[in-house]
Amino acid sequence: MTLSFTSFANVAVAGATGRLGPAIVDALVEAGFNVKALTRTPGAKYRPEVEVVVVDYLSPRELVEALQGQNVVIVFGAWRHPGQLNLVDAAIEAGVYRFIPAMFSNDLTNPLVRQLPVHGTKLKTEAYIKAQAALGAITYNLIATGPFADMFLPKNTWINKSDHTVAFFDGNPDSPFTGTTRYTLGEAIISILRTGPTSDNRTYKIQRFRSSPKRMLELVKDSTPGYEWKFKEFDTLEMARLCIDKPPETDPDCKNAYLSRGVHHEGYGGDFPSEDSLELGLEIWSEEEYKERLIDYINGKPLRG
Ligand SMILES: NC(=O)c1ccc[n+]([C@@H]2O[C@H](COP(=O)([O-])OP(=O)(O)OC[C@H]3O[C@@H](n4cnc5c(N)ncnc54)[C@H](OP(=O)(O)O)[C@@H]3O)[C@@H](O)[C@H]2O)c1
Repeated sequence: MTLSFTSFANVAVAGATGRLGPAIVDALVEAGFNVKALTRTPGAKYRPEVEVVVVDYLSPRELVEALQGQNVVIVFGAWRHPGQLNLVDAAIEAGVYRFIPAMFSNDLTNPLVRQLPVHGTKLKTEAYIKAQAALGAITYNLIATGPFADMFLPKNTWINKSDHTVAFFDGNPDSPFTGTTRYTLGEAIISILRTGPTSDNRTYKIQRFRSSPKRMLELVKDSTPGYEWKFKEFDTLEMARLCIDKPPETDPDCKNAYLSRGVHHEGYGGDFPSEDSLELGLEIWSEEEYKERLIDYINGKPLRG
């Protein structure tokens, strides 16, 4: 069957009940896309506009059936499972045009990042989808996001408001990095889909803000007079050594060690260029706007945008 573009109106999402999925589903529904959610869990909670179908990711027949009539598949939580490759096969059989696998992390075009043990499944998926796209069976987008500030700030990962410390990694508080929010990812996906087939097989590196541990320390010091803020140093090699016998893709300490290295260590490309975000029309916060978000977080308010 020859793959031809008709529309991106019908979007299937897989495993969207986790940390990322709900924000993206909201964005897609509000932008007018028809969303169908694949889940393993009977009774999985989705907003009423979403059609929900329970699937077994090991059943090719169920997956092909679930993907009939869909134009796009976006994978969130179902990524660790061999299920993601089954989803690629099923998408091809069902005539889906675009596949967006669960990437949403470090810059996988960076050779050092590709060696981090945390990305094995993602690299396997990337190789598979690229091979299928080269055969003309499907098209894909790979989206690198850097860290999601709306997930990491509340975890006290960068700025710890209990002990008034700002984290820096591997001896370099000046090292710049870029990050996003889940809302930004939703906007990016919508913008990519709205470009139609011109976005075929593109990799995007997106951002909402650019900062460094040193600037974050200066920004919070400046805004909270009376508090004694200081740096706390982390060594990502030491962090990785502590999780040596644990599964790197699933153990939270291992993920933290390797992903932090991918964001903050020199040479790992954590400071994304802004071109793709500008091309997609994404808003990039000025330093003042980022600072407002940091202060909101310190004052216990949710992160906006
Ligand atoms: N850059 C960052 O800061 C950052 C942070 C977090 C995540 N991420 C990335 O975002 C992507 C999605 O992560 P997430 O945090 O949304 O995932 P998650 O919260 O772990 O997703 C869990 C969902 O996936 C489904 N699921 C769980 N185990 C499964 C299995 N074995 N087989 C099939 N489905 C399974 C479940 O949905 P059902 O019960 O509905 O099936 C569950 O609700 C990943 O690529 C991750 O690396 C990036």
